[in-house]
Amino acid sequence: MPVTTLTWENNALRLIDQTQLPERLVYIECKDVETVAEAIESLRVRGAPAIGVAAAYGVVIGAQQAIAAGEDTDAGVRAAINRLSHTRPTAVNLFWALTRMENVLDGSAGSLPKAIRECLLREAHAIFAEDRKVCRQIGQNGAQLLKANTTVLTHCNAGGLATVDYGTALAVVYAASEAGKQVAVFADETRPLLQGSRLTAWELQQSGVDVTVICDNMAGAVLREKPIDSVIVGADRIAANGDVANKIGTYGLAILAREHNVPFYVAAPLSTVDLSLSNGGQIPIEERKSEEIIRGLGKQTAPQGVKVYNPAFDITPNGLVTAIVTEKGVATPPYEAAFRAWFDA
Ligand code: MRU
Repeated sequence: MPVTTLTWENNALRLIDQTQLPERLVYIECKDVETVAEAIESLRVRGAPAIGVAAAYGVVIGAQQAIAAGEDTDAGVRAAINRLSHTRPTAVNLFWALTRMENVLDGSAGSLPKAIRECLLREAHAIFAEDRKVCRQIGQNGAQLLKANTTVLTHCNAGGLATVDYGTALAVVYAASEAGKQVAVFADETRPLLQGSRLTAWELQQSGVDVTVICDNMAGAVLREKPIDSVIVGADRIAANGDVANKIGTYGLAILAREHNVPFYVAAPLSTVDLSLSNGGQIPIEERKSEEIIRGLGKQTAPQGVKVYNPAFDITPNGLVTAIVTEKGVATPPYEAAFRAWFDA
């Protein structure tokens, strides 16, 4: 079992500072909204579901700060929601969680400040608990897709560290392993921030899963030379038609999987599906600072002043996606019908 990514302790959000992994397992305590927002922006906490849970607790912290300062609780909470909504644009789980918190705030209008804070905390705890449950259901549903002895290729980190504690893509690996299957994983290192080699490799190693790290540009050769049975990745946002936004490099990997006749699976909670967007072209893609590429890995990795293009995510068209695994089941094309049936159920 991977470690728990974030917890609520002593009226504060305690989370693993993922920028320090795999060198150090360091926790930080967030006691104000700005610290939560900074943690999301700088990827101390990252991965779509984990961002949503962290933001939900960030809203509770906003209420606490307003109460401590003797300020209007409603206004303080709305300011917190506004600040947190401007941290990262792509993962829809952030906005999904903030909307839930805002609905609770609206529903507690006229209540005493402490009662508002209690309602918000209850909702944040519910989002936390649902994430744990949903990830296990995703694991169960996805594990059925894997053979008894199998090798999976993954990209970025859609593991316990990207959720409360079990992951989405890696939930499939954990659930299959727990069911007695032999699962080996190849992990793309995932440039520029190395979520694959730093985080996926770390948590799989901690959990005793057979993991091999490769550089991103090795995926084609690995798909041709190694017995890869499936590619499984997570998602930051899935449009109604099944187009998938995920970590930059996912699209290329999906094309490589198609070329090698390897199924390409996406594992994500329904909270990652955005039915308001008809296709992936409407998903906002975060662009990050050029320093991540110019001074990557703690050293100069490109000439100072050079032009850089650094999108954090890309869109994989639905036609390259073999199936989408959610807590409700495994959807195959056409995705929209399956999503709508699940949302309506
Ligand atoms: O920039 P990151 O590290 O937040 O990107 C994370 C991903 O792309 C994950 O694959 C995605 O959020 C799914 S996590 C279950």
